[in-house]
Amino acid sequence: MKSEKPKTWSGRFNEPVAELVKRYTASVSFDQRLAEFDIQGSLAHARMLGAQGIISQADVKAIEGGLNDILQDIQSGTFEWSLDLEDVHLNIEKRLTDKIGDAGKRLHTGRSRNDQVATDVRLWLRATVDDVIARIHKLQTAIVDLAEQHADTAMPGFTHLQVAQPVTFGHHLLAYFEMLQRDAARFADARKRINRLPLGAAALAGTSYPIDREGVAKDLGFDGVCENSLDAVSDRDFAIEFTAAAALVMTHLSRFSEELILWSSPRFGFIDIADRFCTGSSIMPQKKNPDVPELVRGKTGRVTGHLMALLTLMKSQPLAYNKDNQEDKEPLFDTADTLLVTLEIYADMLGGIQVDKAAMRAAATEGFATATDLADYLVKKGMPFRDAHEVVALAVRHAADKGCDLADLSLTELQKFSPDISDDVFGVLTLEGSLASRNHIGGTAPDQVRQAIRRARSTLGAH
Ligand code: ARG
Repeated sequence: MKSEKPKTWSGRFNEPVAELVKRYTASVSFDQRLAEFDIQGSLAHARMLGAQGIISQADVKAIEGGLNDILQDIQSGTFEWSLDLEDVHLNIEKRLTDKIGDAGKRLHTGRSRNDQVATDVRLWLRATVDDVIARIHKLQTAIVDLAEQHADTAMPGFTHLQVAQPVTFGHHLLAYFEMLQRDAARFADARKRINRLPLGAAALAGTSYPIDREGVAKDLGFDGVCENSLDAVSDRDFAIEFTAAAALVMTHLSRFSEELILWSSPRFGFIDIADRFCTGSSIMPQKKNPDVPELVRGKTGRVTGHLMALLTLMKSQPLAYNKDNQEDKEPLFDTADTLLVTLEIYADMLGGIQVDKAAMRAAATEGFATATDLADYLVKKGMPFRDAHEVVALAVRHAADKGCDLADLSLTELQKFSPDISDDVFGVLTLEGSLASRNHIGGTAPDQVRQAIRRARSTLGAH
């Protein structure tokens, strides 16, 4: 970075800022990624100043030309950022003034970096939210595609990580579709509160110039203005909301990852994750490690940490702006980066998953997964549910002693537990019978999975 003097606000100071302090207080190394949005906000502000007669149209023209050139320099990587100029805002403003002289110095009329930075972050976050929602939909599509191939595939459903009842793999996958559906809705809702204009709040109290805030809001595509100037420059609740929504997506994907890790372990052997998402071990030649899901699980901690950082950053700040708020950017940027790349890699990874249906099936028949079905069968024959529960528990113990599944017991053996049992019992003791019987909205029956997939596809198509 190059060196620049003097500081924009240095008039009242008797000595220069200490080198270490300069480095401690500067944010340009990380807030330069707001440059495009800073320029977008400045252009709208300048146009408004011109339209309101606060600066001349000639100044507006000069500012527009200068800022567009600067944007090009930044995009082509030729812009030289200076640590002495503290942050993205002062770097761009100083460059503009170097280029166009006094007109550049008029840009900051009726504005403060306090409302400027809040505007930049909101513009950046709005674009980021749109990107996040699009990627969530892409991942949901990958989930639905995989679920469609496995609407009939039986696997054990678990509670307490013990085999509970049979489910279809398609149904299991669609649980994550639902979680992501709520996640996308959370971002869409947060976007409404992000999309408000702080500019006009100036440092904290508003400004004495005859500004047009609604006009700037419209120009920048905001739904309206922040209605209290103190609030506009000081609160970062919109960033916290975004991070909270991101932490929830990561939490959902962390749970999914935990399952992929379990299912791909040789003990389960339910799925195979494509080699390109795994690595080997440098010492154990037989290993294929599920690095991607493990890292997703790990990075969830990082995003949750950012949420804590932002909440803690906010909690003791008096109104209005405090420099503390400069610390909102790194957690927020890292949250967005982590989330976006995770969503992308996840959609890819799901496309490369191979399913071992026989292994899933074998596991579903091993854990007495149809025990509830037998109890329900007895209830339908007139036995009270609690009695049926007890009868089946005895039958399970008997099968366990014999080392076989309930469906492997003979009719005579089963009838020892209840004379109500007849030949038709084998219809419910099979995986297919059990699955097909849960045939209501939200149930695991293959027909229901196919209907859920149709609903999911039409929801996704509507975006
Ligand atoms: N770099 C600062 C930030 O990110 C910009 C606002 C500075 N305002 C101030 N009064 N020092 O928050």
